[in-house]
Amino acid sequence: MTIAKQYRKLQKVVTGNKTTDGDGVQLTRVIGSSSLMMLDPFLLLDAFGTDKPKDYIGGFPPHPHRGFETVTYLLEGRMRHKDSAGNEGVIEPGGVQWMTAGSGIVHSEMPEQQRGLLYGFQLWVNLPARAKMTEPAYQEFTAAQIPVEQLDNGGQVRVIAGQTNQGSIGPVINDFVSPLYIDVSLPAGQVFEQTLALADNAFVYVIEGELGFSESLGEGQLGVLSEGDTIQVKAQQDSRFLLVAATPLNEPVVRGGPFVMNTKQELQQAFADFGR
Ligand code: FE2
Repeated sequence: MTIAKQYRKLQKVVTGNKTTDGDGVQLTRVIGSSSLMMLDPFLLLDAFGTDKPKDYIGGFPPHPHRGFETVTYLLEGRMRHKDSAGNEGVIEPGGVQWMTAGSGIVHSEMPEQQRGLLYGFQLWVNLPARAKMTEPAYQEFTAAQIPVEQLDNGGQVRVIAGQTNQGSIGPVINDFVSPLYIDVSLPAGQVFEQTLALADNAFVYVIEGELGFSESLGEGQLGVLSEGDTIQVKAQQDSRFLLVAATPLNEPVVRGGPFVMNTKQELQQAFADFGR
C-alpha cells in the first residue's frame, strides 16, 4: 500500500523589514519583526548582504545572549567572534557557527574584512525550558566540513543540519528541535523534493532566483510552509534557497533584547545577571 504524500503549501510570504542592529549593521529582519514575529522554534532570521563597508564595519560589539541558539551562516565575507569564556574564531565563506548560548555568554561578532561583500544569515533557534540554562556550547564547521550533495538534475545541496532524501547528513547535532538546515541550488526548470516531519515548522528563503509554488516566491522572500510530509519546489529560473525546518517547542516565549526565556521573572533575572 502506498500512502499519498502530503505536500506542503505556501502559507504566507514574508519580505522582512530593513533595520540596523549592533553598531549600525544594515540588515533585513525576516523573522522577528511585525510581519512574522516567530515561527516556533525560530525566533529571528536576519539576512545581511552588502558590499558597502560602512553598512557592516561596526559589527556587533560585545553583547549577551541567554536561552536560545544563534546560527550564523556566511555565504561571503568573514566574521570574527570572541566570547567571555575565551573562545575565539573566524567564520569564513560557506562556514557555519551554531552557538548554544544556554545560560549565557557575552560575545562580539565583528567583520574581519575592511572591504568587499559581506553576505549571510543569522537564525535564532529557541531552546526548550529544560535546556535554557544549559552550558554554553559551539558547533563550528568550515565550508569544507559541510557535505555538498550533487543532484541528478544539476542541483546541489549543502547540508548544515538534518538529513536529505539521498542520505547526506549535516554535521550539526541538535536533539532539542531536530533541525533541517540546507542550502539548495537548482537550475531553471528543475524540481527539488525533500521529506519533512509532518508537523515540523518549515520555511524557504530565496537567496536568488525564483521558486514556483501555488504562487511564486522571489529573491529575498521567505515562504512559511503549511504542514505536510514533503516539500516539492520548482525553480522558475536558476535559483538558490535555504530550506529550514524544526520541531516546534509549544512553550511560552517571553523575549526581551538578547534574552529569550519562558517567564517574565526569568527574563528580569537575565537582565539583572548581565547588568542590563
Ligand atoms: Fe550575538
